[in-house]
Amino acid sequence: MPLTKLVSSTLTLAVLGALALGLAACSPSTGLGAGDITCDAASPVTYDNFGAAFMNTNCSGCHGPGSRTDTTSLASIRANAAGIIDQTVYNDSMPQDSSLTDAERIELGKWLNCGAP
Ligand code: HEC
Repeated sequence: MPLTKLVSSTLTLAVLGALALGLAACSPSTGLGAGDITCDAASPVTYDNFGAAFMNTNCSGCHGPGSRTDTTSLASIRANAAGIIDQTVYNDSMPQDSSLTDAERIELGKWLNCGAP
């Protein structure tokens, strides 16, 4: 292979590698999937006994009224459930300090999948 071609394919690989790393950093998968958060209809978990405190502790410091995903309002939480599941359950993007355990992510996902009662 001519040297220029070799250099250019090496550069291409380096750029692709950097892109792949960048994407991975934006969306670090937790390994959890839809099957892990199927709604348990008999679950006693509600906004009053779980959701409000969960959001207050983990999210609402940044996601207050007026933000794109307002986690202080049940209506907004319901409206943004798919995005919240994606960012918080399937991916370790939120909260930004990665402080949730898998058990907490699963409890959140099940509650949201039940319609956030
Ligand atoms: C330290 C501040 C902080 C905390 C805590 C935090 N977020 Fe975020 N969140 C952000 C910022 C900033 C963005 C927009 C930029 C980005 O995507 O990184 C964002 C983006 C999002 C998005 C994408 C849609 C949007 O509103 O931009 C969702 C959904 C989300 N966060 C949900 C949550 C949930 C649920 C929690 C709690 C489990 C949480 N976040 C905790 C700062 C935070």
